[in-house]
Amino acid sequence: MLILQTVDELKKWVRETKKAGETIGLVPTMGFLHEGHLSLVEKAKSENDRVVMSIFVNPAQFGPNEDFDRYPRDLDRDRQLAEGAGTDAIFVPSVEEMYPRESQIKITAGAQADVLCGAKRPGHFDGVLKVVTKLFHLTEADMAYFGQKDAQQLAIIESLVADFNFPMAIRRGDTVREEDGLAKSSRNVYLSAAERDEAPHLKKALEMGKNLFLQGQDPIAPMTDYLTKNTSGKIDYIELLDYPTLTADIQNDAILALAVQFEKARLIDNIIFNPKEN
Ligand code: PAF
Repeated sequence: MLILQTVDELKKWVRETKKAGETIGLVPTMGFLHEGHLSLVEKAKSENDRVVMSIFVNPAQFGPNEDFDRYPRDLDRDRQLAEGAGTDAIFVPSVEEMYPRESQIKITAGAQADVLCGAKRPGHFDGVLKVVTKLFHLTEADMAYFGQKDAQQLAIIESLVADFNFPMAIRRGDTVREEDGLAKSSRNVYLSAAERDEAPHLKKALEMGKNLFLQGQDPIAPMTDYLTKNTSGKIDYIELLDYPTLTADIQNDAILALAVQFEKARLIDNIIFNPKEN
């Protein structure tokens, strides 16, 4: 597996890969890899000739009081996991390499960022759009892979690609879960032992809410009640919206999504379903 640290090294690899007539799948990550990331690599490998993974903790998507400095990092471990999963190259730029100068152009997410995490983390999705735009151009990826756990991110990136005709496809990977239902996340390492025991209740609350909704009831209050009783976390939001428009008017698929703030970890989770097919 190649380790590419600079834009020039990445571009050279892309040039050679394209010259050989091979397609490129991109798995963008912030590292501290888990099975969710590796399942995206697996999907990317099955659909492309070559797979490049970016590992970059992107300062542009963290707010001033968020966890940029203490976001978990372990490049040696990531390198082994990425290689074991069959990644062809990892792109691990420094902040200066990615952002050598102050941007003169701003990319701003639209109304899809006004709800869920976007409403709680102003500017977060603008920062995500900034880095993925650069990664999409630098890697010339034919397909890029994102997990459903970050469903709002996925929907907003799909809009970026559609609105600006990026010559690539965005592919969705299923949320990968621990045996007890907790969605895998790099931030799970921040949970205390007691919080880790409580965390599977997030998925249980989502399932309960979905069933209530399908029975014609408003799920938000019962879910709030359930999470308040079963976890020590503070509920940031619980919302039911259309997916991927993220409007209140559910036409096709629905997303039931929540965020819970534990002492050191803010966990998000969601389920997407078609109310007409359930
Ligand atoms: O989902 C993530 O890990 C990040 O938001 C991403 C897409 C790698 C951009 O920094």
